[in-house]
Amino acid sequence: MTWLNRDVTEIGGQRLHPETLMMGYGYFPGLSEGAVKCPIFQTSTFVFRSAAEGKHFFELAYGLKEPRPQESPGLIYSRLNNPNLEILEGRLAIWDGAERALAFSSGMAAISTCLFALCRPGDSVVHSTPVYGGSDFLLDKVLPDFGIRTVDFQAGTGPAARRAAVDKARETGRIAAIYVETPANPTNALVDLADCAQLAGELEAKQGFRPPVIVDNTYLGPLWQRPLDHGCDIVVYSLTKYIGGHSDVVAGACMGTRVALEPVHLMRTILGTMTDPHTAWLLMRSLETLEIRFRKSVDNAVKVADFLRSHPQVESVSFLGFLDPDSADGKLYARQCLAPGATFSFFVKGGEAEAFKVLDALQLVKLAVSLGGTESLASHPAAMTHSDIEPARRAELGITENMIRVSIGIEHPDDLIADFRQALGSL
Ligand SMILES: Cc1ncc(COP(=O)(O)O)c(C=O)c1O
Repeated sequence: MTWLNRDVTEIGGQRLHPETLMMGYGYFPGLSEGAVKCPIFQTSTFVFRSAAEGKHFFELAYGLKEPRPQESPGLIYSRLNNPNLEILEGRLAIWDGAERALAFSSGMAAISTCLFALCRPGDSVVHSTPVYGGSDFLLDKVLPDFGIRTVDFQAGTGPAARRAAVDKARETGRIAAIYVETPANPTNALVDLADCAQLAGELEAKQGFRPPVIVDNTYLGPLWQRPLDHGCDIVVYSLTKYIGGHSDVVAGACMGTRVALEPVHLMRTILGTMTDPHTAWLLMRSLETLEIRFRKSVDNAVKVADFLRSHPQVESVSFLGFLDPDSADGKLYARQCLAPGATFSFFVKGGEAEAFKVLDALQLVKLAVSLGGTESLASHPAAMTHSDIEPARRAELGITENMIRVSIGIEHPDDLIADFRQALGSL
């Protein structure tokens, strides 16, 4: 009975699917008055049954003692642990096939806590570019201020560019991590994850330490890309996007093995970058519909991208579904991705003025940054999320003035197409 067993993952030989497990995994109604839904544990601290119990809980939390078999750490204080956080993390890990997940107060909290946990002054980080504007600022401006050098390679290029970046980074010291965002925001350029994992292995032989490959998987999410299956070590997410999915929470996550995440967990406890109980509860609700929301968004995106591609005012559409299957990128896409996702860019004929005209004319699709919500959004990366990048570098990366990024939601596809048609008609 589920009343008694909160962690049923198999029934009569049938391994339960993630979308099924999202309805109850990790939650024990018997501990919460039989409530079918997990309540919000809106509390900062937890009462110990005795001083000895409190002592034992701290010994486990601080790693002073090993837990007994099947023993989970006791609840102490909501910066360290909380039932909503723990149940959410158990469910998040299922999607990526990870041993462990950690939830954070934002995607940037996850990324920065992870990199600060793994890097030391004198280290280097090799990373793909472009990446989300905030991650770019962290890599390009913040980490160097802490004595951490960063060397980039362009997404969409082959293994030689990655190895050249690694050779350059090794000139000054240890490579502490390889950080990758694929597909890249906002160009959808791809990075070969299996090759990055192989590169980490080659580095282990050279520097006696395997730099973890950290992958920002926000764009495709665990449904359409599984970086751990390609040998990568840590997956990071902005849960604000598809996983939260309703544009009403800001949160993030890291997934990986227990060992890989141990220093990240410790850093999270000290920086206090965990998610709060209410946000964790909202995310548990979101996880129940992740599969149907994301599948519908992708179906809609295919239709909208098809429409845009055929429009006379559109120069091109960088939709993963349009890659030539015989090209290097097309082959990589087939190996690495399970669907094209629902965020992509299109390029109008003209420049900023024409792109702004289309954005201002949209009636249903909202003019806002972010992505992955139930509603469709459109934005102008060059003037908004990526405006911090020098114009010459932006152009080199393909983030041009005529680029419009869209995140396609779950509205009726005909209505979305009608809106894009009338907006493009304003040109
Ligand atoms: C790919 C990607 N990674 C990370 C982030 C940062 O996430 P958050 O805004 O939740 O901090 C974003 C935000 O747009 C993003 O698009």
